[in-house]
Amino acid sequence: MVHNIDASNAMTIKLESILDELPDMPQFVDDIRRAPKRHFSLSKSETVLALKNALRYIPEHWQDMLAPEFLDELLTRGRIYGYRFRPPGKITGHPIDIYKGQCVEGRALQVMIDNNLDFDIALYPYELVTYGETGQVCQNWMQYLLIKRYLEELTREQTLVVSSGHPLGLFASNPDAPRVIITNGLMVGMFDDQENWHRAAALGVANYGQMTAGGWMYIGPQGIVHGTYCTLLNAARRKFGMSSEGDLTGHLFVSSGLGGMSGAQGKSVEIARGIGIVAEVDDSRIRTRHNQGWVSKIVDTPAKAFLLAKKYQEDKSSIAIAFHGNIVDLLEYAVKNNIPIDLLSDQTSCHVAYDGGYCPQGLTFEQRTEMLKTDHNGFKKMVDISLRRHYELIKTLVRRGTYFFDYGNSFLKAVFDAGVTEICKNGKDAMDGFVFPSYVEDIMGPMMFDYGYGPFRWVCLTGKPEDLEKTDQAAMSCINPKRRFQDKDNYTWIRDAKKNRLVVGTQARILYQDALGRMKIALKFNDMVRKGGIGPVMLGRDHHDTGGTDSPFRETANIKDGSNIMAEMAIQCFAGNASRGMSMVSLHNGGGVGIGKAINGGFGLVLDGSDHVDDIIRRAITWDVMGGVARRAWAGNKNAIETSIAFNQDDPGQNHITLPFIPDEAMIEKLVLDTLDKN
Ligand SMILES: NC(=O)c1ccc[n+]([C@@H]2O[C@H](COP(=O)([O-])OP(=O)(O)OC[C@H]3O[C@@H](n4cnc5c(N)ncnc54)[C@H](O)[C@@H]3O)[C@@H](O)[C@H]2O)c1
Repeated sequence: MVHNIDASNAMTIKLESILDELPDMPQFVDDIRRAPKRHFSLSKSETVLALKNALRYIPEHWQDMLAPEFLDELLTRGRIYGYRFRPPGKITGHPIDIYKGQCVEGRALQVMIDNNLDFDIALYPYELVTYGETGQVCQNWMQYLLIKRYLEELTREQTLVVSSGHPLGLFASNPDAPRVIITNGLMVGMFDDQENWHRAAALGVANYGQMTAGGWMYIGPQGIVHGTYCTLLNAARRKFGMSSEGDLTGHLFVSSGLGGMSGAQGKSVEIARGIGIVAEVDDSRIRTRHNQGWVSKIVDTPAKAFLLAKKYQEDKSSIAIAFHGNIVDLLEYAVKNNIPIDLLSDQTSCHVAYDGGYCPQGLTFEQRTEMLKTDHNGFKKMVDISLRRHYELIKTLVRRGTYFFDYGNSFLKAVFDAGVTEICKNGKDAMDGFVFPSYVEDIMGPMMFDYGYGPFRWVCLTGKPEDLEKTDQAAMSCINPKRRFQDKDNYTWIRDAKKNRLVVGTQARILYQDALGRMKIALKFNDMVRKGGIGPVMLGRDHHDTGGTDSPFRETANIKDGSNIMAEMAIQCFAGNASRGMSMVSLHNGGGVGIGKAINGGFGLVLDGSDHVDDIIRRAITWDVMGGVARRAWAGNKNAIETSIAFNQDDPGQNHITLPFIPDEAMIEKLVLDTLDKN
């Protein structure tokens, strides 16, 4: 018979060793957003199991007291967060020296975790949600405390294993192994669906990591600003053949949404030197973005919006205009008055259109909120009518020369769900895609990911703005803006990064780079650390990248050889990064598109100035990117093939990518059709 006392005596890392006594329930700060109640449909016996699961963290003498509290959390919130164990006050990513630890990696990862839970950063900090509605650092505060203590104890001879937020323990490894391996929400194939997911999450055995939330690498909103900036510039190149050196001067971009992610649109268009009008129905969101300086002017009629835009177009200066109103009204006005729009997109939350994500034409934001409560069916009908009208307006504008692209918000799918089958390429269902492109199919995939350009990022762990400034300068010196148009865009971005005041939280920077660029910059930073010019740096990336993510509706939407339903690239990337010595590796189910729809992974690498880390940079950073480029090349993507050819030639004897031979498509088609027609 095993007794709790035996387990307790066999552990040195446990809540009792972290806390002298059971903490009081912390006070919740009033204006901090709280997560809504999560889906909960556990049976009685499953509820018992969920409670037993959570109490596994709790020493026996506290269990009587905590059992009813945890049950209450489960029934009222849908999850057990263990609020009582949240450290009181503000959590923030402090300078690394504040943290205890046996190795720099253990301390560095504590900075990253705390940054992900900062009130200024996290969407629902009390529920450990960093972003993306449900993306959590871990499931509950008991896990948080234990992970932090494990990171304090971690040595370079050990690896901490974290499964869906649960710290399984420290296991002996070696200095070349990752210090931390994280997985989130990975499910066995036949159970990999929403229903089983909700059950597992409520039972406390699954965490939704999104991407950099559970991968501890979120750096606030600047990540999406750079991505949107690149998307807009490349959309302009694609649509009106803008030159490599060009920017959006004089060009008009129209979209909707100034919310969590969509709020980046105004700032991005201004940095790209264009003119943007972004429609937003919620006045409070407009005010937030205006206070942050992410939109410069607010107007309340379409006429004022387009008039102001015209003035700035003529003056050739940039501006982000917030139109307080519905995007459909804005487009209606543009169509009626024959106003040319260069680039058009949409970032309403169409992935949850009927749950309030899309405000139908004819309702104010307040009326929409009321109607959601009182007449959901009526609301749904209005959404469908509005989406159909929205689509007709886009069609007209596209006929007149506008370039429209779906920006990863399921807009096209929502229009299809509203009954518009002609939006499908095959005229009946979404299997063959839609008549308008998604941004990855048309822009990010071929123009960025296929070359290896992706959202490389770093955090200056000292927390010193001067370290960030030095790294900005150093990164800039590694980029040749004349090499490719992407390099020019990235050069401009990093040159102006400080001026654009993008930092929220830790001293972090995002900079889209290809394999070579990432390696050069990483080596340079490590050298700066070695020479004492800056303190240690955490390198990483968003999972929304070339190699780390298999996601047929987003990151791998431009993989057309049929392998877009495979998840092997993400897993190879993860395993390869682990075997090449990244400090932390992570692998998740879902990401930005939902459970079962993607597998995505990321990494963290701490630059400590050592020669050892130089070696890791050379082998791991290159692999992390080029594994993805190789897969894209094998799928037949032209730019990826070119990049891979150059890679093979660059360093013969070291790396070697298998390249495809491209057959004559017309010959094959004729052969197949002729043969099949005969039979
Ligand atoms: N492309 C990407 O990389 C990427 C990244 C993140 C999110 N997304 C997707 O973009 C969408 C938006 O994300 P978010 O985090 O900004 O969501 P959000 O819900 O915070 O913001 C959407 C905003 O749209 C406004 N809105 C809704 N209907 C409107 C209408 N008809 N007219 C004008 N405004 C309207 C809402 O009031 C809200 O403020 C989501 O579907 C998300 O999944 C894409």
